Amino acid sequence: PTISRHDYQPFPYALPEVALQLELDAARTRVTTRMSFERAAGELVPLVLNGQDLSLESVAIDGVPLGPDAYELHDEMLVLHPQARRFTVEIVSTCCPEANSTLMGLYVSGRHLFTQCEAEGFRRITWFPDRPDVMARYRVTLQADTAHYPLLLSNGNLLSQRDLGDGRHEAVWEDPHPKPSYLFAVVAGDFACREERITTRSGREVLLQVYSDHGAENRTEWAMDCLIRAIRWDEARYDLELDLDRFMIVAARDFNMGAMENKGLNVFNSAYVLADPATATDATYRAIEAVIGHEYFHNWTGNRVTCRDWFQLSLKEGLTVFRDQEFSADMLAHGLQGAAAASARAVKRIDDVSALRIAQFPEDAGPMAHPIRPESYQEIANFYTATIYEKGAEVIRMQQTLLGREGFREGLDEYFRRHDGQAVTCDDFIAAMESAYIRRNPGRDLQVFRHWYSQAGTPRVTVRMQHDPQAQTCTISLSQSNPPAGIELLQNPPATKPPLHIPVAIGLLSPTGAVVLPQGAQPHPLGAPGTLLLELTEAEQSWTFHGVAERPVLSLLRDFSAPVIIDYARPDTELALLARHDSDPFARWEAGQELARGLVLGRVQAQLNTAADLLCDTWAALAQDTALSPAYLARVLTLPAQRELIELTTPMEPQAVVQVHRALTQELGGRLQDHWVRLYGAMADDPATPYSPDPDSAGRRALRALALTYLLAGGHPQAAQWAMQHYEAATNMSERMGALNALATWGPEEVRTAAYQHFYDMWQDDPLVIDRWFSVQAASPFTGVGEVQALMLHPAFSLRNPNRARSVIFQFCMNNPGNAHSAAGYAFWADQVLALDALNPEIAARLARAFDNWARYTPALREPAREALQRIVQHPTLSRNVAEIVNKSLSIQ
Ligand code: ARG
Ligand code: ZN
Repeated sequence: PTISRHDYQPFPYALPEVALQLELDAARTRVTTRMSFERAAGELVPLVLNGQDLSLESVAIDGVPLGPDAYELHDEMLVLHPQARRFTVEIVSTCCPEANSTLMGLYVSGRHLFTQCEAEGFRRITWFPDRPDVMARYRVTLQADTAHYPLLLSNGNLLSQRDLGDGRHEAVWEDPHPKPSYLFAVVAGDFACREERITTRSGREVLLQVYSDHGAENRTEWAMDCLIRAIRWDEARYDLELDLDRFMIVAARDFNMGAMENKGLNVFNSAYVLADPATATDATYRAIEAVIGHEYFHNWTGNRVTCRDWFQLSLKEGLTVFRDQEFSADMLAHGLQGAAAASARAVKRIDDVSALRIAQFPEDAGPMAHPIRPESYQEIANFYTATIYEKGAEVIRMQQTLLGREGFREGLDEYFRRHDGQAVTCDDFIAAMESAYIRRNPGRDLQVFRHWYSQAGTPRVTVRMQHDPQAQTCTISLSQSNPPAGIELLQNPPATKPPLHIPVAIGLLSPTGAVVLPQGAQPHPLGAPGTLLLELTEAEQSWTFHGVAERPVLSLLRDFSAPVIIDYARPDTELALLARHDSDPFARWEAGQELARGLVLGRVQAQLNTAADLLCDTWAALAQDTALSPAYLARVLTLPAQRELIELTTPMEPQAVVQVHRALTQELGGRLQDHWVRLYGAMADDPATPYSPDPDSAGRRALRALALTYLLAGGHPQAAQWAMQHYEAATNMSERMGALNALATWGPEEVRTAAYQHFYDMWQDDPLVIDRWFSVQAASPFTGVGEVQALMLHPAFSLRNPNRARSVIFQFCMNNPGNAHSAAGYAFWADQVLALDALNPEIAARLARAFDNWARYTPALREPAREALQRIVQHPTLSRNVAEIVNKSLSIQ
């Protein structure tokens, strides 16, 4: 059942209007769907509708009921044979929300009813052409028990409400904007509501509402604040205005992903809505801002202009992630200027690039590798990936780098001018961008750039530099390669991968770290001082710069100008110089990371016990650099993540990486002890100042927690006592979790257990906080398979709630590499994949990816991993979701 991009066929009917009536009931919801179709083709063609887990009551065309031989009812398909050119189909069917554990379609969460339709959930609500290129205007009539479901919400405007006299009531909603079925939403229940009225830029008044469970309404202030800032930001940066009279956000406890951009009625995982100082960390506040921004920005990039088919998913997701990243960066840099603003934005860039390396690079090097516009899929839910989202955002960012901010804006304006109200493709997007590019760069185009949409794999760019002191020239040569990745390895003939258009931002530093600007060179307007943009479009190219007297030190891939891996052999002393002096704050951080990576990998792979002297000296200097913001410094003084490092070993040696990483953390803790003590004291909060998630306060808390971690790791005699005091004196969840995480990773057993117990007693009634309690334990290096199984026996554990399953099972399998990578760990994982698959295939398939790259593991782990995979694949009833993942995984050995 593989679906190929090239098989796209337009839907043969237009569907201008849909009227839905839902008699909502958790046990049995009856749906009456009236669709007015209009055949586009000249000749007769069957009308194929999608459906899943529905019971069909009746079908009529133009009011005439159809007998069972007038249509074909398949498992997931209903085929009708209409004769007229224009006609109306009326279908009555039922579904069962309370039996729906997939959380797709209509389902129960808490005491409420929610829908999730993207990508193919609408077909679980009614028979319908459930594809994004069928755009219709919806009128929705909701009927339900008044006491149980006092609030009945859907997309658009509320037309009327009435009492039905039998204990039920009714609400009628109409969405004036034609939309694909995946943007449809219904919410029914009893909620608290926070609301604001604002006036948009053009002077329209809009009603903003954030709905939550009763009792949580004092935790929605930040969400509302984020929404208003997102609205203002899109107006200011892209001239995009809210096109609705009413915009609603509803928090759901059970939700498969982060949130969903349903037109005018966003549904959110409550973890990305609710925040107050006592229960949310600084990172949560930032994550809420990002997700609220993301879903709001979809209103234009996704909803006004949508995807023609699901191969185009990155058209909306890559672009919208790019937009939310820019929004977050602007929020961090708010009120700052010059280098301070650049450093604040770099913090966001560092976090995003770290996430890319942890999640997307491995994906691009494994059995699920796919281009940002995939060529085929078996189950679209499996393609909500780091590649589509995060690499997709990098591909958009490169376009901004190549066009400049103004050029990019021009291209985006052109995109909306051409395609507002349409369902389009990635080609349409790049064509609009190209029109702006050509205007600015006559004679050039984005032909080569387009290959980013069709190639999987992380390209490598190899750098060489030659300096001629006589001629005072410096020649930089770049070559690129992107060998077959993942399943491309199995392709016969092998995939052809032409060169990509790669913007490589660089800088030249003098041996003392000063900016060197070669004669006549034009610095890039988006970059740090002295940034030059090299546009690599061929397999190999060179650039010669003049007036470079001394051999320069190269600052490479500034601001991470392309999602590639750089290969450049150079002495560690150059990295140390860059770490201390690079004018680009991203590349500066990167140089320190590269230094640490080299050290860890040398110790793991060559079993060299290379001295950490240079790293310690460099970090010591940075720890005293008062020009660095605490948030930035916290990133600089953090080692690359274990997951990132494991991926860089060949064969992959998870255990050895964990050991070396821990040993190096201890060493840094000990050798830089004075600095940690000083920072720990200097970053203490004034307890009288009320909590604020602003970047400076958050940065101070992050740096303080980091110092505490190093003090514990380094064995400072008072560290455990400080950690417990820190935990107990915490006046907000950020401080509390800072201490708890440090204890979970390094603390002595009695202190650790006492803290866990205290935390549970304090927060047992708060599900989102209890998720943290499970997570911190599941990821602790002291939690083995036995302990994680014990956690699952805790009465608060449930497999049905995705946040809870993630907090225990996913945390253990993905963030506890020292314990998960073992025969027992893999067996546990296989058990959980199968258990989850019976309830929620989408979540099960995500867990099934935990050991994607098993074929590259060290031999002792490869066999037990293969056995676990084989046990999954042999299970008699696998979902399409899990089957696709494990079959692909086993195809690479
Ligand atoms: N479009 C949503 C977002 O990125 C993601 C929804 C995907 N939902 C799912 N069940 N796969 O914001
Ligand atoms: Zn999205």
